[in-house]
Amino acid sequence: MSTQSDNRFQAIISHAKEYGFVFQSSEIYDGLSAVYDYGPYGSELKKNIRDYWWKSMTQMHENIVGIDAAIFMHPTTWKASGHVDNFSDPMIDNKDSKKRYRVDHLIEGFAETLTEKGETQKAENLLQQMDALLAKEDYAELKELIVGNNMKCSVSGTCNWTDIRQFNLMFDTKLGSVTDEADTIYLRPETAQGIFVNFLNVQKTARMKIPFGIAQTGKAFRNEIVARQFIFRMREFEQMEMQFFVRPGTEGHWYQFWKEERLKWHLSLGVDASKYRYHDHVKLAHYAKEACDIEFDFPMGFKEVEGIHSRSDFDLSQHQQYSKKKMQYFDADVDTATGKPYGNYVPYVVETSIGLDRMFLLILSNAYDEETLTKEDGSTDSRVVMHIPAKIAPIKLAILPLTKKDGLPELARELMNECKSHFRCFYEEKDAIGKRYRRMDAIGTPFCVTIDHQSKEDGTVTIRYRDTMQQERVPMNKIKEIVLQQIF
Ligand code: GAP
Repeated sequence: MSTQSDNRFQAIISHAKEYGFVFQSSEIYDGLSAVYDYGPYGSELKKNIRDYWWKSMTQMHENIVGIDAAIFMHPTTWKASGHVDNFSDPMIDNKDSKKRYRVDHLIEGFAETLTEKGETQKAENLLQQMDALLAKEDYAELKELIVGNNMKCSVSGTCNWTDIRQFNLMFDTKLGSVTDEADTIYLRPETAQGIFVNFLNVQKTARMKIPFGIAQTGKAFRNEIVARQFIFRMREFEQMEMQFFVRPGTEGHWYQFWKEERLKWHLSLGVDASKYRYHDHVKLAHYAKEACDIEFDFPMGFKEVEGIHSRSDFDLSQHQQYSKKKMQYFDADVDTATGKPYGNYVPYVVETSIGLDRMFLLILSNAYDEETLTKEDGSTDSRVVMHIPAKIAPIKLAILPLTKKDGLPELARELMNECKSHFRCFYEEKDAIGKRYRRMDAIGTPFCVTIDHQSKEDGTVTIRYRDTMQQERVPMNKIKEIVLQQIF
């Protein structure tokens, strides 16, 4: 990361804390690594992103329904899904500092320094070699790549490495009161399995016909060894996943469909298209047939925000085998090639999986702006403004009576009462109006309304737009409509 990007990232992290978006978990005890809490504005923003995703998936697609499965699942779920045996990352330890690295992060970090030195071709070759070796799980050669290129530990500065080993990322705990007799169960590392095991319950009760989807949002847990970069990589995080069940043979079409559909969703939030790109996977996860990431240009460079995975019938077939319960769907549609119904089969699945916290970081990174303003008299001023899309902004409307007297607060309260059941409003009388605007800019409130003495005379108020800072005099009874138009 260049110094400039690093500074920007640090500024975003500080801003997130100062304005009540994100706090370190258990901060009074010096925090818990890679675990975070969301504050008053953060929890609103997070909820709004989740709702926006939920609505676009379920309400806007007649063939997608939602569920809310438990975090704890029968332990065999994770044996069947492959997570017990395969959900691990290759790690390497530096023998001198005892610092542990994820192998891909170590090599990517080294490649970044090469790029910064202008050795772009060398960096690209290195990454290609890494991808190929990871795909083959050739850990001896991967270690050779690290040692051969003299990659050093950032703490000890030495190249004294252990062999590469795999570490499972699942957290386990005990279910039951007597710990040594109790069953080991896992905190789910992805929400998807709650969907798979409920596939037939949902299909039958909601009377779904293939192709159809099941959507879910919820917490997932991974014991990330290298947990860093703020809320980008957390140990407790939230996912928004959708499994789309399709007829075998049509998965290629649906994979393309969801790849495009999901990018459209991102762009519908008004983010510049140049900040997104696809990254097709070379090394596929243990369940994947085809997979890509949607990457965003975060302050630390292009990184994954969402994955689109063609998972074949892997999960349902595995659950069928381990549970000995049929996971089949009866397709009554007629195959034009044979003239007969498609009949029973285990559906294929195309999955869309996005991290809510990562999407939150994307919104913060995209929204954060330090502006220099030139005033009419030529002097300059500055403001920090969060250009959060109006439809997901934590507060939509700030209602600000110019003074605390002369009946202005009463009028402002009237507007507050008219609007607060429709969208989140904020009322404030304290401080000069300029200061109040700045505070609202800092939390991304798209509209501020000032009520002054003229409002009492003619029923008009001043609406001020966050991004342009333009102000307009409008009838007070039009405010609700103006805001509603912008947030849906
Ligand atoms: N069910 C598929 C699955 O879980 P994944 O690529 O491992 O796929 C999907 O995760 C998304 O979840 C990622 O694109 C990312 O946004 C988010 N995610 C994964 N691990 C995360 C972590 N440790 N912290 C925050 N978000 C994470």
